[in-house]
Order: sequence, then structure tokens, then C-alpha cells
Amino acid sequence: MPPLLCALFAIIVVHLGDGGGAPACSAARDAVSAGHVLAGKDRLVSNNGKFALGFFTAPVHAAGESSAPNQDKWFLGIWFNKVPSQTNVWVANGGEPIMDGAASPELTISDDGDLATLNPLTKSITWSARSIIGATKNSTTTNNTVAVLLNSGNLVLLDTSNLSESRTLWQSFDHPTDTLLPSAKLGRDKVTGLNRRLISKKSMAGPWPGPFCFEVDDDTSQLVLKLCNSSMDYWSSGAWNGQSFTSIPELTGNTPGFHIAFVNNSREEFLQFNVTNETVVTRNFIDVNGQNKHQVWLDGSQDWLTLYSNPKIQCDVYGICGPFAVCSYSLMPLCSCMKGFSVRSQVDWEQGDQTGGCVRESPLDCASGNTSAAASTDKFYPMSMISLPDRAQSMQGVGSSDDCSKVCLNNCSCTAYSYGNSRGCLVWHTELFNAKQQQSHGGETDSDGGIMYLRLSAREMQSRRSNKRRVTVGVVVGACTAALCVLVFVVALIIVRRSRTKNRSSQNCGSLVAFRHKDLRSETKNFSEKIGEGGFGSVFKGQLRDSSTCVAVKRLDGSLQGEKQFRAEVSSIGTIQHINLVNLIGFCCEGDSRFLVYEHMPNRSLDIHLFRSNGGSFLSWSTRYQIALGVARGLCYLHESCRDRIIHCDIKPQNILLDASFLPKIADFGMAKFVGRDFSRVLTTMRGTMGYLAPEWISGSAITPKVDVYSYGMVLLELVSGTMNSVRRSDEERESSDGSHAVVYFPVQAARKLLEGDVMSLLDQKLRGEADFKEVERVCKVACWCIQDDEVDRPTMGQVVQVLEGVVDCDMPPLPRLLQRIFETPSSVSSSVLFVASSPECR
Ligand SMILES: *[C@@H]1O[C@H](CO)[C@@H](O)[C@H](O)[C@H]1NC(C)=O
Ligand SMILES: *[C@@H]1O[C@H](CO)[C@@H](O)[C@H](O)[C@H]1NC(C)=O
Ligand SMILES: *[C@@H]1O[C@H](CO)[C@@H](O)[C@H](O)[C@H]1NC(C)=O
Ligand SMILES: *[C@@H]1O[C@H](CO)[C@@H](O)[C@H](O)[C@H]1NC(C)=O
Ligand SMILES: *[C@@H]1O[C@H](CO)[C@@H](O)[C@H](O)[C@H]1NC(C)=O
Ligand SMILES: *[C@@H]1O[C@H](CO)[C@@H](O)[C@H](O)[C@H]1NC(C)=O
Ligand SMILES: *[C@@H]1O[C@H](CO)[C@@H](O)[C@H](O)[C@H]1NC(C)=O
Ligand SMILES: *[C@@H]1O[C@H](CO)[C@@H](O)[C@H](O)[C@H]1NC(C)=O
Ligand SMILES: *[C@@H]1O[C@H](CO)[C@@H](O)[C@H](O)[C@H]1NC(C)=O
Repeated sequence: MPPLLCALFAIIVVHLGDGGGAPACSAARDAVSAGHVLAGKDRLVSNNGKFALGFFTAPVHAAGESSAPNQDKWFLGIWFNKVPSQTNVWVANGGEPIMDGAASPELTISDDGDLATLNPLTKSITWSARSIIGATKNSTTTNNTVAVLLNSGNLVLLDTSNLSESRTLWQSFDHPTDTLLPSAKLGRDKVTGLNRRLISKKSMAGPWPGPFCFEVDDDTSQLVLKLCNSSMDYWSSGAWNGQSFTSIPELTGNTPGFHIAFVNNSREEFLQFNVTNETVVTRNFIDVNGQNKHQVWLDGSQDWLTLYSNPKIQCDVYGICGPFAVCSYSLMPLCSCMKGFSVRSQVDWEQGDQTGGCVRESPLDCASGNTSAAASTDKFYPMSMISLPDRAQSMQGVGSSDDCSKVCLNNCSCTAYSYGNSRGCLVWHTELFNAKQQQSHGGETDSDGGIMYLRLSAREMQSRRSNKRRVTVGVVVGACTAALCVLVFVVALIIVRRSRTKNRSSQNCGSLVAFRHKDLRSETKNFSEKIGEGGFGSVFKGQLRDSSTCVAVKRLDGSLQGEKQFRAEVSSIGTIQHINLVNLIGFCCEGDSRFLVYEHMPNRSLDIHLFRSNGGSFLSWSTRYQIALGVARGLCYLHESCRDRIIHCDIKPQNILLDASFLPKIADFGMAKFVGRDFSRVLTTMRGTMGYLAPEWISGSAITPKVDVYSYGMVLLELVSGTMNSVRRSDEERESSDGSHAVVYFPVQAARKLLEGDVMSLLDQKLRGEADFKEVERVCKVACWCIQDDEVDRPTMGQVVQVLEGVVDCDMPPLPRLLQRIFETPSSVSSSVLFVASSPECR
């Protein structure tokens, strides 16, 4: 593997340099008419420059086989002109290729006035627009039809014989592939029977159609996601209430500049959305993994921002992992083969299409000719914590697990069984679909969770070999693995440094330093002085040879992948520089090693001083107040002063570093999320640290910078008390009315004392009351505002800074109701809600 970091760095530099992929050809036309031919690299570009139409190739390999790709095939498509990596919004022929390799096809108006692609060698028509619907062609001729790529991205074929009014003969909006653009309709024309629906792509590698469909359900007038041509719906939008769908709450009020309508009358039944600003690049599409997503392109960060996606959980997509595979709610990879099975098509699998599933490695005994049931040598392999596959057959009158296993063994087509006291004996005679691995925390299992016994050949059961062929690759669209987060962090900080060095070129010429591994080794005395350990790697102290500056060298663990998704996030962080954000000096990538070199923070992180009795130094109140203010300023900068808003997502004392004079610097952008200027919300995987997580993370709704405000509020309370909020303090436990112990959760207590006017009792005892009462009260008020349940009730970081600076005053906040409810109820069950360990589950 080439040094990915370096490669990335190069990409970014190039990217920043060229300033986005503007079309080079200014004289591009938007129409094909008689006598014109579009061929090779020619493009039609819509009048507004937003869409381009042209030919492209993709390698097509024989379906289901893991053979080498065959010859390239030709496709005709429309894509966003401004988005650097070709993002198709429509592909002719439903995404099937229009021509084989060799020559490049031509687009023209055929003799009978149709829009057609020709093989230039044979002059034969390989695809034509109107043949799709088998329309009887009227007396249109070459001379009076024209194909135009409209500003909306709609390719229309017009009959211009009537000079005062042209007639639309055909339009691409009537034959969508996987994308719904603004002003296009998704749904039925009840008169003609035309059903416009979205069909997923089969894989990332090319546009050919996959198994999932997004359409309007005739009976219920709801949007549904389903397996195409089947009745297997796996998600539905709920009813339209005139403004939004009940299962897409994100549509309400969250998307300024969007108008959405669902129309049902005697002629039509369709969904349509418009944007008020035509320059907005947006799409609603069904992705390869069967999720429906709505995205907006952010010019600033050069990336797609997902406004919502449904179903929210990837495993809820029907058959996403194919037969004999298990979908995992929490682990990467998403899909893995059951024991004794291996991936059917490695090529498909790696390209993100896992619906082919897995195949048995060694045949069952009876399949090899032994028909005598009793003699079958097959064994059963128990799989626990499985939510059972569907299409089970219930066997009546089978009274024990043993009998159930015999029933299965007796029939050669039986692949698995499961026995439960309530549901009795279930057997499967088919491929096993939709098995899901459940999360094991909390001890609470789904009602249908249980043990499934998978039938395997005796040979398979004996083999001790580790299942090396088990798939470790899971391509999840929009996913963010820990490794990817590291990279965001890495490159983001590279850019930070780049821009900073630019600004201080007088004292520090040259850009970010690329260190050699050898040098880092000697500078850190062979990585001998470890000063920290984090989720992403270890941190060592070092001393640069030439300048004898102290540095912190972070060694990153794990593999790095997925440069595309965050290239963008990177270019937007390029403008970041702030005294309260940590500074990167350089990096090193040689072979497999990845290092980041930061300025050394002699006073390490805030938690050490606040929570540890040994090792930390005592923080006076005025120091604490300065830390509170500095962190607020840093966050305010991230939220409000950058080109794109940046949500840090993991504010906690461990990520607040202190320099020699205890000036705070926010560190670790490994979980940061970038949000555009126009859209304040972003849908993302739960990330962060328990104890600091805002309630909206748990509900799975889109988040705003207010999640950082919440975490910040929690940190403020810890600054005041000098203790972790989530630690039980025995002296604060009290008997509640029914005799059970209730823990008095500090944030709730703080809010209550604040209302009583007794904030000094909250103060860290180590301070011995040496603190400015007004400041303590101010900090407590701000903290209490920050941890309000509803994000709209929380202040912005800008307001927080103003209050802490004493510029404006702050009212008395109400009690945070949710916290109070959760922590003051004696039954401790609910308290786990706010503090569920956040598994890095990816969507
Ligand atoms: C053919 O032309 C007639 C009259 O212009 C029109 O009513 C009819 O819809 C057309 N048919 C098709 C298939 O375009
Ligand atoms: C189309 O126009 C060209 C040039 O104006 C003419 O030579 C040709 O005969 C016309 N074809 C038809 C079918 O009208
Ligand atoms: C052309 O369209 C106009 C407007 O619809 C209509 O009034 C006129 O009759 C049409 N002319 C012909 C020749 O069809
Ligand atoms: C669904 O039906 C359409 C039309 O009948 C057919 O063209 C398409 O191949 C089918 N798709 C699948 C996945 O069976
Ligand atoms: C979208 O725009 C089209 C054309 O401008 C209009 O006919 C339609 O009613 C609009 N739909 C919505 C949902 O605003
Ligand atoms: C949709 O419209 C049709 C015709 O107006 C009506 O019969 C049907 O009940 C409507 N469907 C729903 C779900 O409202
Ligand atoms: C549309 O959006 C662009 C880019 O965000 C902006 O520059 C322009 O002012 C907007 N136009 C209107 C009419 O709001
Ligand atoms: C069939 O069963 C017998 C035992 O009855 C066993 O010895 C033999 O190996 C089996 N055959 C195969 C092909 O597994
Ligand atoms: C095995 O089970 C299948 C499905 O229930 C059934 O059709 C078949 O007859 C069974 N075979 C035997 C030998 O019992």
C-alpha cells in the first residue's frame, strides 16, 4: 500500500489549488438536433451549467461470478456538472449498458425523430428513448424534433413542428434510475399507468440496476422501500399529513428552501420536491445499500451532506447481506458469512453489493448421496444472540430441542433449526435471509432473539482452522469507521497547519513538516516516554533535534481507508486557526506507520487536574474560569466563524489540553462533523462519550452544534465541582420515599441549588470557598442553560462567551426536565438511557 497519508495530502493540495471542477468548455451546448451528433467526450451542458450529459464507460463483470471484469460497456448518463466525482442522476436504458466496448457510441436524432444512440461502425441503433415505452411514433421527423437538457436535469425530446408550442414526446424524468431531482415526480400517472420509481444501483462500480426500489405504494399512498417486483416492503414513510410523512420527521421545518408535496388525485399520485434557489445541488436517491437518502452538495467542503436517510439502521434493509450471512447492528463489517460459508462473489462484495451473500464451503452429508437420515453425519453449530432469519417453517407437535434437531436432520433440504419454549420448533428449508446479530449489552434481548442451530457438515465442524475467509470488508455508504475518523482528523489538522504556516510565513517558512520515521524514533528516544493513550493510538513525548522544541508524537493504530468521503471535510477545515485549538506541526507516513506531531502541551489535559488527586496540579477558581472562557471561544469559532460549521462532537475534559500557562486548547477532531452554512443540521452516527452526550443523540435525529453546547455544559459543571458528573458520590445517595436508593445526579442537584441561590455549596471543596461568587453563579447558570433537554432552549456558544465575558447577563434557567426525570426516578432502568455506551455503529 502506498503511503496513503501522503497521497491524500497531495490530493488535497491539488484540490485546493484547482478550486473545484468547473467545466472547461464554455461553448457547451444543451441540445441535440437533426444533423448534430454527440460522440466521444462531447457533453451537453444545461443552460445553467448544473447538469451534463454524455457517454461513459464502466467495467461490467458477469453477474454473480468473481471472475475478472469483462470488457468495458458504454452508458449514456446525466450527472451533476459541478460535483468532481461523477454522480449520475439518470442513466439511459434503466442503467443497463447501451453498447459493448470497442467503438464509442453516438447520440443523435434518428430518421423517425427519435433520440437514439448509434454504433458508428454498424450504424445500427443500440438504444432509443421512445422505444422504452413502445410509443407509437407520430409523424415526427428528424427535422422537427430536438433533445434538450433542461436546467432541471430533465432530458426532453421535443416536437417543434408547431412553432408556437413545442410538444414533449419523451422525458428522462419519466424514466428515473436511482435519483429524484427537484421538480421530478416519483409516482404514478393513473391515466397512462406510468409508474416512476427509483431503482438502486447494484454496486458502486457501475450504474446497472440492483434489487431495491423506492416507490409510491398504490394501496396506502405511502412511499415504500422494497425489493423490486415483490411485496417485500422493508420501510414505509407513513401517511402524508399535508406537510410531511410521519416517518420522515426531518422534512418538517428542517430544510429551508425546500417545498415538498404529495399529490393524490384522480389522474396522478406522486411525490415532488422543489428548491427555491435553483443553484442548490440536491438529490433524493436510493443508494446501493437500499437506503433512501436526501443530500445537499456543499461547495465549501466539497461533500454531500445527508439530511436524512431511511431506514435509519442499515440492517433493516431487507436481505442486505444476502443468504447465509449475518448483519451486525454494531460491528464493522456490516455483513459477515456464517460459519462454514464464504462470500459468493468477492468482487461484488468489495464493491458494496453484498446481496449475493455466502455459499457453503463443504457440502452437507446428505447432499453428497447419503440419504439415510439416521446415518447423516451432519452437525449443528449454535449461533446465539441472533434475531432469526425469516421464512421459517413451524413444526407442530415437536416437543423438545432434540426432536427438533432430528426433524431437521431428517430432511436434506433443512438448513437450520431453532427451538424455543414459546415458539416451539422452527426449521428452515431455504437459504437463510436476514439473520441479524444483536447487540449484547444491557442483557435485554429482542423477543425473537435466540439460538439458531446451523446445519454444517461434520468436516466443517471438525476443522479448527480459523475462518480466514470470513469477510472483513464491508463497504458502507456514508459510514465513518474509527479509522476514517482518524484520517479526517489527520488531514484536517494538516490543513490547519498549512493555513497557519501561511499566515506566519515570516517566522516559519515552509509548510507542514514531513518527518522521517528514523528521526521521530530518535527524537522520542525510541518511543520511550509515553504520555498518553487514546482510542486511536499512543502519544509519546519528543524533542526536535534542530530546534529542541518539545513535541507530542501520536502514533496511530489501525489501517486507514476511504479518502473520498472526507476529502471535503478537509478542505473546509483549511481555514481554521484559533488560539484555543491545538496546533499540528507535522506528520510522518512511511510504510505502515502513521504519526502526527503536535505542539507539546506541558500541562496535558484538563481531566488530570480536575479528577486525579495525584499528578495534577491544583486549579484555582480564576484558572478554571479562564479555561471555561477559552473553551467557549474555541467552540464558538468552530461553530460560527468557519466557512462550514464544525461540530466537534466529543467535548470532554480529556480533549481539552492545557499549555504552560493553563491556556486551554481543544484537541482531537477525530469525531468532528462538518455542516454547511445553509443547513444547520446533520444526520450522523452516534459519536462522542457517554456522560457528555446530548439527548438528541439517543433519539437518532439530526444533530446541530447544540450537541457541543450540551457537552460543554457538562464540562462546566465538572469544572465547578472538581468531580466527574457521572460518578456516584456516596454521601449524596439518599433514601427515596419507597426506601430504595436514588443517586442524586450532580447536574440535577446543581440546577436545583442554583434555583435556591446556594451555588457555593456546589463548589469543589479543594477550593475552600475561594472563588468569586458572581462568577460561580454565572458559570452554573450557563451550565444549566447548556444542558437543557431541547436544543432550542440551549444558548449558542456565542451567547455563552458573551455571558462569561460579562457582556450580557443571563436569566435563571429552568430545571432540565429530562435529566431530572431520568435521575430522580428510583428505578434505575431509565438511567441507562442517557449513558448507553455508544457503539461506533455506522449508517
Ligand atoms: C400523435 O399526435 C396526436 C395529435 O397531434 C396526439 O393527440 C397524440 O397524443 C400523438 N400520439 C403520440 C403517441 O404521441
Ligand atoms: C430536413 O431538412 C433538410 C435541410 O433543410 C432537408 O434537406 C431534408 O429534406 C429535410 N428532411 C425532411 C424529412 O423533411
Ligand atoms: C400550435 O399550437 C397552438 C397553441 O396550442 C394552437 O393554437 C395551434 O392550433 C397549433 N398549430 C398547429 C398547426 O397545430
Ligand atoms: C421487475 O420487473 C420489471 C418489469 O416487469 C423487469 O424488467 C425487471 O427485470 C424486474 N426486476 C427484478 C429485480 O426482477
Ligand atoms: C414545483 O415546481 C413546479 C414547476 O415550477 C410546480 O408545478 C410544482 O407545483 C412545484 N411543486 C411543489 C411541491 O412546490
Ligand atoms: C387517492 O386518490 C384517489 C382518487 O382521488 C382516492 O380514491 C384514494 O382514496 C386516494 N388515496 C388515499 C390513500 O387517500
Ligand atoms: C442561491 O444560493 C447561492 C449559493 O448558495 C447564493 O449565492 C445566492 O445568493 C442564492 N440566491 C438566492 C436568490 O437566494
Ligand atoms: C454415509 O453414511 C455412512 C454411515 O451410514 C458413512 O459411513 C459414509 O461415510 C457416509 N457417506 C458420505 C459420502 O459421507
Ligand atoms: C423436506 O422439507 C420440504 C419442505 O418442507 C418438503 O417439501 C419435503 O417433502 C421434505 N422432504 C422429506 C424427505 O421429508
